[in-house]
Amino acid sequence: MKQICVVGVGYVGLVTGACFADLGNRVIALDVDAKRIENLNKGIMPIYEPGLEELVRRNVKAGRLSFTTSYADALKGAEFAFIAVGTPEGVDGAADLQYVEVAARSLAKHMTAPLIVINKSTVPIGTGDWVADIVKSAQPKPIDFAVVSCPEFLREGSAIADFMAPHRNVIGSLDKDAANKVAQLHLPLRAPIVITDLRTAEMIKYASNAFLAAKISFINELADVCEAYGADVKEVAAGMGYDARIGRHFLDAGLGWGGSCFPKDVQALAFMAKQKGLNPRILNDVVDVNYDRRRDVPTQVEKLLGGNLKGKTVGMLGLAFKENTDDMRDAPSVDISNALIAAGAKVRAYDPVAREVAAPMMPAVEIVSDVYEMAKGCDALVVVTPWNEFKQLDLEKVKSLLKTPVIYDGRNIYDPARMSEMGFTYRAIGRPSNNGRA
Ligand code: UDX
Repeated sequence: MKQICVVGVGYVGLVTGACFADLGNRVIALDVDAKRIENLNKGIMPIYEPGLEELVRRNVKAGRLSFTTSYADALKGAEFAFIAVGTPEGVDGAADLQYVEVAARSLAKHMTAPLIVINKSTVPIGTGDWVADIVKSAQPKPIDFAVVSCPEFLREGSAIADFMAPHRNVIGSLDKDAANKVAQLHLPLRAPIVITDLRTAEMIKYASNAFLAAKISFINELADVCEAYGADVKEVAAGMGYDARIGRHFLDAGLGWGGSCFPKDVQALAFMAKQKGLNPRILNDVVDVNYDRRRDVPTQVEKLLGGNLKGKTVGMLGLAFKENTDDMRDAPSVDISNALIAAGAKVRAYDPVAREVAAPMMPAVEIVSDVYEMAKGCDALVVVTPWNEFKQLDLEKVKSLLKTPVIYDGRNIYDPARMSEMGFTYRAIGRPSNNGRA
């Protein structure tokens, strides 16, 4: 059993803390947001993540996990301190590091014994060295410490499974002893461990996310070519995916990527490249191709309706940026609903969990609590988030409720042939459908 402090109980910090506690460590998780801590102490989670509430409850009960707002309490006896605070996108796509700085200073001020400071937040290359300088200068008296980069690769919606069965763990530090101690913490996960220097570890995180984002933009570009020539992008992806050098993952064409990581990480990497006088052409295009997807929706829906959107009611199936989460950060639904409303449409929406988070972000959208109620009287539906429950909808019922049976399937969840047979005017992305682009 090791004693660990985790700074930040957002999505990354809370999952990391709860999972390390579950592995038998003693974890004290800290946040400066007193309300969040108060809620966590009552068992109320700040985010929706499948399995998290149960995991937290179990480990709190076992005495391995607790929450505090006090650095002094969180650091008492701790050998490791994870920094897992937000690094929002700042000006020009650069990452905003103010919360990392506050965390590093606070750790320095309150540490009373040697400490390994581990950066989990996604931070620009060179931040680890900067954190080390901050800790050193903010310490009231010198105490040994090391800074290690240990980037997270968790996906929202499957974060616990991703933590417990990672593809790899990356540990970067110039201090070999500290890196080995952090590697020991990860041994129970039985995954490959890549030990490298700080800057390389920081780069691995950006490189991985940018590559995955590029893969999605690539398949989205190919989707247009498929559609123009009557090929099916879903089958193209399957055919490509069997090649182990390519892999099937992240080849789902659709409305593109959003969320808390890909948008800011791709921008931040491009920004870093530009700062050094480089021209990141691929990264720039990866971003452009992605946002074209959502920009295109109103035009396509308009075409399906055979005229303009004025006075039409469009229903959105899903609001969250992806399934199994209530996260609305850079969710395509926000841009799509804004554009539809600007074109004169009324927008109604349904999402199984993101309703409350979404409501303040889209006051002009009528968010209802039942999918069939949403469909009632709509001129067209747009599939925005591929929630499982949408895949098994009673489509006959949906059809009978719609004013006109029009579906723009932005996530390719339905079978084009079946939709056609059922009498829908149906448009998929990159697949032959009875109302494709061609
Ligand atoms: C991502 C990374 O996967 C994770 O390793 C990192 O730590 C954080 O960023 P996340 O943002 O939670 O995780 O979601 P992910 O499942 O990776 O999906 C990202 C976006 O890409 C979503 O908007 C999703 O809808 C979209 N996507 C994903 C596609 O459009 N097509 C695909 O084939 C896969």
